[in-house]
Amino acid sequence: MRFDAVIFDLDGTLTASETGIIHAAAYAMEQFGAPALPYETMRKFVGPPLMYSFVNYAGLSADEAKGAIAKFRERYMDTGWKENEVYEGIPAMLRALKRAGVHLGVATGKQKSIMERVLAHFHLREYFDAVAGVSPDDNTADKTLLIKAALPEKFERACMVGDRKFDIEAAREMGVEAIGALYGYGTEEELEKAGATQIARTPEQLADILLEGLPREKGRFFSFEGSDGCGKSTQRNLLAEWLKTCGWRVKTTREPGGGPISEAIRELVLNPEVSGMSDECEAYLFAAARAQHVRDTIRPAIERGELVLCDRFLDSSVAYQGAGRGLGEERVRKINEQAVDGTLPDATFWFDVDPLTAMKRRLKECSPDRIEKEEQDFVRRVYAAYQNIAATQTKRVRRVDASGTIEEIQETVREMALAELMR
Ligand code: TYD
Repeated sequence: MRFDAVIFDLDGTLTASETGIIHAAAYAMEQFGAPALPYETMRKFVGPPLMYSFVNYAGLSADEAKGAIAKFRERYMDTGWKENEVYEGIPAMLRALKRAGVHLGVATGKQKSIMERVLAHFHLREYFDAVAGVSPDDNTADKTLLIKAALPEKFERACMVGDRKFDIEAAREMGVEAIGALYGYGTEEELEKAGATQIARTPEQLADILLEGLPREKGRFFSFEGSDGCGKSTQRNLLAEWLKTCGWRVKTTREPGGGPISEAIRELVLNPEVSGMSDECEAYLFAAARAQHVRDTIRPAIERGELVLCDRFLDSSVAYQGAGRGLGEERVRKINEQAVDGTLPDATFWFDVDPLTAMKRRLKECSPDRIEKEEQDFVRRVYAAYQNIAATQTKRVRRVDASGTIEEIQETVREMALAELMR
């Protein structure tokens, strides 16, 4: 049978935390006059109890090591815990395990309060049924007891996943299977010697082991829409970076464009030197670029389980060609039917900002009153079309108030995106 309980170590198994840990350890050693160590040795601090590392790697006495642990925690609490990122694919794997009803736990030698902070920061806390960390006055971090605390009362087949011998040995002592996470900070020799039953070289291999025969998490598709100058591209990029640090597999792309053929169409359709293009031709070119983009980029990424963040999609054609150029929504939808062939965004973030403000942002050097009346009308029609899309497709479209600062807007976008990802 498959595992009905899986316990994870945190550092080097769920999160790549070496930067924060190395900085905090170096800071603590400096306070005790210990000489600086090469990077390769400092990396070994990730995983084992700190007492072990300060004595064995830094050469401190047990008493000094106790003081060093306090200094380490000071630095780590302050900034170190943020110098961290979740391995790619972890949240999707946890979601799939949780959906299958597997008990999930964390057993870490980190202080419980820091662990909770890290898990909450990366939005991982909600996946776990039990989390076990050490109390502030505990310098031993007995992993066996931690695993015990993270396991359910009853289970048939459990495993511990960890990247260092301490995890593997403790798992064996607890009588549960031990999976070595070789992508973390230990070596193959260390994990095998400690008695790992299986080795995962990458987080993907770990998912293959734990999810054998279970359904995987599907990919998702989010689009970013709005009038020119609304700031959606900046927000999309910031969101992508942040979601990557949270372990999501993200594919960013744009329309018109995304792949070589669609980018070539973009060159043509957006080229200001091209004149005399009919509105129909324009609509078909956007649809043609989309047909290619869906097939060569969007669908394959969704099938790989990735999260596609696409700058503009079908709503842009409805707003610009349908309302802006006046072809009408019906016609534009019809032209695009075969292009999208059922591939539609799971969620759309519409960046709502007054269209004239957006135009001003875009054309910083000239004020909107100098802009042709016709252009203003066009911009207004596009905006009204977006308002209409948002009002009629409330399940899919999320309105983002895009009048605030970049940071404020990003905060809203993150919250909305996470809510979508958790659905
Ligand atoms: P965008 O990439 O947002 O512009 P930029 O890279 O210059 O910030 O969009 C390019 C332009 O193409 C934009 O004015 C909207 C237009 N467009 C349409 O008219 N119809 C469509 O279907 C799409 C995707 C874009």
